[in-house]
Amino acid sequence: MTKYYDLTTINDIKKIEQCGEIIRNGGLVIFPTETVYGIGANALSEEATKKIFKAKGRAQDNPLIVHISNYDMIKKVATISNEIEKKLINAFMPRPFTIILSKKEIIPNTVSAGLETVGIRMPSNEIARMLIEQAKVPIAAPSANISGRPSGTILQDIKEEFDGKVDAMIDGGKVTIGLESTVVKVINGVTTILRPGKVTVEDIKKVVEHVEVSENVMGKVKSKEKVESPGMKYRHYAPKTKCVLVCGSDEEKVTKINKIIKEKFTIVIGFDEHKNAINTHRFISLGKKDNLEEISNNLFTKLREADKQMAELIVIEGVEAKGLGLAIMNRLIRTCEYDVI
Ligand code: TXA
Ligand code: MG
Repeated sequence: MTKYYDLTTINDIKKIEQCGEIIRNGGLVIFPTETVYGIGANALSEEATKKIFKAKGRAQDNPLIVHISNYDMIKKVATISNEIEKKLINAFMPRPFTIILSKKEIIPNTVSAGLETVGIRMPSNEIARMLIEQAKVPIAAPSANISGRPSGTILQDIKEEFDGKVDAMIDGGKVTIGLESTVVKVINGVTTILRPGKVTVEDIKKVVEHVEVSENVMGKVKSKEKVESPGMKYRHYAPKTKCVLVCGSDEEKVTKINKIIKEKFTIVIGFDEHKNAINTHRFISLGKKDNLEEISNNLFTKLREADKQMAELIVIEGVEAKGLGLAIMNRLIRTCEYDVI
């Protein structure tokens, strides 16, 4: 049986204490962060973290991010090896930001998926921070979704997938960002972005000199290729319905979409400004085309909403891949399995 804790209006410390105890005793708790909801377990326990892989149906070779609530906790689980890592930690913790560090022995192999490294993140969400403090252990947590599906950003969507499969769920309302954290790794002195997020390339360039975006962020990973971030190999963020990503100028996108909807039973996910020009009432809006924050925040819930309509096809309007737009396009290109027109 899953216990539900409603913290949408007040951060009731008693309830968080109970959830912390569940984590410390080896259970699974779904909790909000500022990016997406996480499905958390005691990061120091092999047995507890194994349960996460089972609940999500996650591939064994895809490592988990370890969530901490203060700087001292970082040193217990990982080694900060150079000045660049130190600078990044000082600048972006707490933030929607994950850094891959060399792991210490205390982190079980289930968490690191056999790698010598571990992803460390200090969330800024208050409930998440309080939960880690109450658990008194670091919390390993991937996004709360069945593997391959869009990440959970509201508890209602998450309940559909995990009711009865975890010990507790904390409802903290809709998350504020809606896309997972930026993941970086310092490789030979270069801060390499493995997964783009709300902390953008431009933000990171203000802190360190050499920044690169991994070619796997927008490119397709070949199945046998070794990748820095194993998560990039897998089908991701995808509804069950087939999806197509539409790119180009506003006019080009509208023309392409109007052509497709004549041929197939289609749901369109697009921007407010194009609602009238697109000839369908099956239109789901992500918000205004220049409001990337709003688009990020709506993306995963709207994908799930579109998926429920049993259409043949979902067509999705793309954005320019820069700033926060890079993170949006990184998710959308995987949602659409690289089917871009
Ligand atoms: O915003 C977030 O990061 C959310 C919330 C819950 O904190 N978590 C999240 O976790 O998105 P997950 O497991 O869905 O995505 C973690 C990504 C995966 O692509 C994984 O392969 C990569 O980070 N990753 C984790 N540990 C790694 C490591 N040691 N080396 C390289 N990549 C790693
Ligand atoms: Mg995920």
